[in-house]
Amino acid sequence: MLPTALLAVLAGAEPQNPVVAEMALLHEAVVVTLVGIETGNVDAVPAAFHKVHEAKAETARALDSGAWKPKAGTTVATFKKQDEAFHHELEKLVKAAAKKDVPATAKQLGVVITGCPACHAKFRPERAPSP
Ligand code: HEC
Repeated sequence: MLPTALLAVLAGAEPQNPVVAEMALLHEAVVVTLVGIETGNVDAVPAAFHKVHEAKAETARALDSGAWKPKAGTTVATFKKQDEAFHHELEKLVKAAAKKDVPATAKQLGVVITGCPACHAKFRPERAPSP
């Protein structure tokens, strides 16, 4: 089952905030990568992550203005640091795909995927479940 926030975006609803919007694109890019690995053609991967990168500017604005805050007890600075490190791993994934190196893309996807729960556990805000 997909998470509610993602389902809403996939169904065409406006994402509730820029981080969720970026995450929906990230989800999509990961799926594109998986399909590329399955078919042996990772040509579509760089463009998919380019969209994530473009969304990052909007996330940065929301962080700087205080419109979006990470989980209570954490700071915007530590979130940004983890986000930067994660985007660096995304760049390596894009480089591997640009070289059409499917095994290297698969290996790096493993690194990238490990970063999802690492950040969510620490920074995803606690929200009341939807009614
Ligand atoms: C640097 C931190 C960070 C990383 C890395 C990260 N996420 Fe997220 N993600 C978040 C935060 C924070 C939220 C919650 C945003 C909110 O609800 O305001 C979130 C939420 C989501 C959601 C929406 C789900 C929901 O209902 O809350 C999806 C989908 C998602 N992330 C996918 C991914 C995937 C896939 C990866 C790895 C490829 C990933 N994320 C990596 C920070 C991150």
